[in-house]
Amino acid sequence: MLSTVAYVVFPCLLGFVLVRKYRERTWSWCKNNASLEGKIVLITGANSGIGYETAKELARRQAHIIFACRNIDRAEEAMAKIRNSISNCKEMVAMQVDLSDLSNIRNFASEINKKYPKIDILINNAGVYLPLELNKVTKDGFEIHFGVNHLGHFLLTNLLIDNLKRAAPSRVVIVSSLLHESGKIDLDDLNLEILKKNLKKSRMNPGYSKSKLENAYFGRELATRLKGSGVDVHTVCPGFTHTGLFRDVVKWYHYILFAPVAFLFMRTAKQGAQTVIWCATEPTLIGESGNFYRNCAKYKSKVNFNSQLQTSLWDISSKLVGLKS
Ligand SMILES: NC(=O)c1ccc[n+]([C@@H]2O[C@H](COP(=O)([O-])OP(=O)(O)OC[C@H]3O[C@@H](n4cnc5c(N)ncnc54)[C@H](OP(=O)(O)O)[C@@H]3O)[C@@H](O)[C@H]2O)c1
Repeated sequence: MLSTVAYVVFPCLLGFVLVRKYRERTWSWCKNNASLEGKIVLITGANSGIGYETAKELARRQAHIIFACRNIDRAEEAMAKIRNSISNCKEMVAMQVDLSDLSNIRNFASEINKKYPKIDILINNAGVYLPLELNKVTKDGFEIHFGVNHLGHFLLTNLLIDNLKRAAPSRVVIVSSLLHESGKIDLDDLNLEILKKNLKKSRMNPGYSKSKLENAYFGRELATRLKGSGVDVHTVCPGFTHTGLFRDVVKWYHYILFAPVAFLFMRTAKQGAQTVIWCATEPTLIGESGNFYRNCAKYKSKVNFNSQLQTSLWDISSKLVGLKS
């Protein structure tokens, strides 16, 4: 028994730990320590996962943070946890916004406009990952990934553009994913009605990947439209991260089956937040707009971005959320 532990279990565990440590070295850390004193930061979904860790670090850097969350109690709990661990943080405010409800987003934006005419950093972080078979739609009837991950943030950002311009140099950070590379956008099937009819069982979620590709297209087009305004746009992949994002697809036995994979490949939420924090704070990124980042560095996407699709997606999204394009 003792020899099994000595010759099999121990070397295996050590191997796991070493591979993990090796992988961690490839996941960069945000190294700048730029102060955010006097800056106003709005983060969607700041109550958990990557959003929470981003908020915590930006609070440490003295930012005034607006926790734009769909559940005020969860936002306040997160704020209290941050206050407990960082004694000298500045103001943090919880404000309710449900990105699956366009009229709620409009009300939220008008509250923001009254209280915060200037916003220095907008972080579009909130997101959902749900099985397509559930046929979930938003309050306005849009497929849930398209509605929350893309359209909700599309409307919110457009409604806050003047606030960002007033604070220039300012930035928008869009949290996308490497999965955008497997996303496909069919402008005639943005709500995935056709796709769902022919849906084959797969480990991938085409609705989620498509929404992350929409995030990438949105970032590029927004950067083009904001050229010369002093508002920079950065799109980010945080990396495969252990958060609550997959809670609706992960069953209890997955935790046992995939524990070794998770241990080797998944970042902690704090590690996942690093590129988001870097894009929100890095001084050398001022004036660099429209790029995609991963591991605190520029990332060359494998997507062959189509400029026609980019402008059409913008125009259709504007129409769907009731904005002039
Ligand atoms: N985890 C990963 O491996 C990974 C990889 C690549 C990209 N990302 C991206 O990273 C971002 C953050 O995700 P996470 O991993 O940190 O997951 P998470 O812990 O589940 O955080 C998601 C956040 O979004 C909020 N949210 C969901 N639906 C919303 C709605 N309708 N209105 C307002 N807020 C809503 C959630 O609020 P509740 O707490 O109220 O549900 C939560 O605060 C997402 O955009 C995700 O696509 C994650």
